Amino acid sequence: MLTRACSLLGIEHPVVLGGMASASSPELVAAVSNAGGLGVQGCTGQSPAQIAALVERIRGLTGRPFGLNLLLFRTDESTAEAVLAARPQVVSTAWPTPEQQLASLFQRVHGQGLRAMHMVSTVHEAGRAAEAGADLIVAQGTEGGGHVGVMGTLVLVRQVVRAVAPVPVLAAGGIADGAGLAAALMLGAEGVLLGTRFLATKESPLPDSYKQAICDSDGHDTLLTELPDVINGQVWPGAFARVLRTRFVQEWLAREGEVRLHQAELAKRIAEARASGDVANGTLLVGQDAGLIDAVEPAGDVVRRIVLEAEDILGSRVSEVLPAVTPVR
Ligand SMILES: Cc1cc2nc3c(=O)[nH]c(=O)nc-3n(C[C@H](O)[C@H](O)[C@H](O)COP(=O)(O)O)c2cc1C
Repeated sequence: MLTRACSLLGIEHPVVLGGMASASSPELVAAVSNAGGLGVQGCTGQSPAQIAALVERIRGLTGRPFGLNLLLFRTDESTAEAVLAARPQVVSTAWPTPEQQLASLFQRVHGQGLRAMHMVSTVHEAGRAAEAGADLIVAQGTEGGGHVGVMGTLVLVRQVVRAVAPVPVLAAGGIADGAGLAAALMLGAEGVLLGTRFLATKESPLPDSYKQAICDSDGHDTLLTELPDVINGQVWPGAFARVLRTRFVQEWLAREGEVRLHQAELAKRIAEARASGDVANGTLLVGQDAGLIDAVEPAGDVVRRIVLEAEDILGSRVSEVLPAVTPVR
């Protein structure tokens, strides 16, 4: 399987790891890149020295292409400079404020000979990114884990593909297996970007109990809320957080005034719960595709299996639904 995204990013398989702030690690990034996908390290919240150290570790684990991710509304000049100076093959960005100048950032990325991959949750934002010169646009639907908009992946991907053609598009949000990749290709996407699926892998930095909670979830137990952002004192431009309905979330939902009052204490409780692997008393950002994930696996196996499944589906479905057509394999 070879798509335009593969050629553009210099990768073998059109499967990309979403940059996931503190939920990504050099081990996970390298495992995805070594399997032929594109690993992306989240850099938000890291100092320039920490970014340099993360990149050194990634380069120690893989010689393959990788990306570095920035949440633009939280990115200052020194962080952007550190990411550009590290010269990853791909600079991955998301969630700018309406005032931020994407064109000047993408020009700097191109000036270093790097690729600019930008994630959007609306067709309007996709047009803005294409006009600013993004090389690749990720259309992320509301099914996804972490911060998402309200449009579903099925509609948004198709809308974005139509709006920004010929700029290649990756589909994200709710995709965890080969059927998801095959469907994304049918919508006109050139590949997929996955977050939740890679959280439940051997190399993911989450505590084992958090990984198991993803496997146990049937996907119906996630919800959209601003609770984590209120607790962290963040105003996220245009997004809600999709989280697992843990006991903590259930307890504090729709009590914003009180949450603001106890902000520091609640932030500490979440950090402690994560450190001790206590899912019920913490927050876990996951997508509805948790309902498609049953086991913690090595990240490289996930990449390879998704591609094989998609190839199989694309090959066999054509002959099933169009028996008169001989599939080209
Ligand atoms: C825990 C978590 C943290 C995330 N952090 C970021 C981030 O820092 N930057 C970013 O561009 N996307 C972030 N995302 C979104 C992912 O890149 C991706 O778009 C999303 O996970 C796709 O949906 P899926 O989880 O259904 O695969 C995060 C997602 C999760 C689950």
